[in-house]
Amino acid sequence: MIHLSLIGIGTGNPDHITLAGVRALREAELILLPRKGEARSDLVDLRRLMCRQLLDEAAQSRVVEFDLPRRDGRDDYLGAVDDWHAAIAQTWRDQMTQRLPEGGRVAMLIWGDPSLYDSSLRIAARLKRAGPEKESGMALEVEVVPGITSLQVLTAEHRIPLNALAAPVQITTGRRLRERGWPGDAASVAVMLDAGGAFQSLAPEGLHIWWGAYLGMDKQCLIDGPLAEVGPAIVERRAALRERHGWIMDIYLLARQPLLE
Ligand SMILES: C[S@@+](CC[C@H](N)C(=O)[O-])C[C@H]1O[C@@H](n2cnc3c(N)ncnc32)[C@H](O)[C@@H]1O
Repeated sequence: MIHLSLIGIGTGNPDHITLAGVRALREAELILLPRKGEARSDLVDLRRLMCRQLLDEAAQSRVVEFDLPRRDGRDDYLGAVDDWHAAIAQTWRDQMTQRLPEGGRVAMLIWGDPSLYDSSLRIAARLKRAGPEKESGMALEVEVVPGITSLQVLTAEHRIPLNALAAPVQITTGRRLRERGWPGDAASVAVMLDAGGAFQSLAPEGLHIWWGAYLGMDKQCLIDGPLAEVGPAIVERRAALRERHGWIMDIYLLARQPLLE
């Protein structure tokens, strides 16, 4: 039996891991550190730094890095993601069974929290299921150690609540905001995974935005204000930061109603 701890580590600040996360990391016999093979080496570097800071020297040898398969960029997005998850599940399975043939405790450090736009729980569930080629499901017990999400860091850094008083919030992606506009009766909308400026597809009048990039990191950048006034500045700053660092992750909250009244 493999006991897999998916440990939420926050989104860039090594101080954001919880005491429960540190404990799960130290108890693990194998710590799997996937490399996504992209320019965002800062993301792997943070995980390496956390392992160096939180584990003693003997435990460092339990950290194993491996390369993840790449997603193919075909048009059928959901189909491509499904194939990609199957390939990742196979990589996880190989790592766990080769390195811990008798079973044991495995940890993976998950960006932010595993519940929010993250596929590790789906991949773990896939490993437990029997495969189409008659592969048997793995004997796998999954534990989630919650982490601080990028959304929480965004609201904390801007000193705002997520919701207007007693009002609903919608969390969505840049792609959906572009395709479908302002969602339903949401009073505020949090947007993640935006390839760039999806808010430009909305009529800006009456909207306020709180934007954050590289949250939790030294290069963190925040901008807020009426969308009509600061929207163009965000687009410009985002492009400049992306150019300077080679990658960017940003998130924002849009609201029709004041959040602090
Ligand atoms: C694949 S999702 C992972 C979210 C993560 N599980 C969480 O709990 O925040 C990646 C998206 O999260 C947001 N994000 C993650 N880390 C961020 C950071 N440090 N600064 C700004 N946005 C971040 C961005 O919208 C990014 O496109």
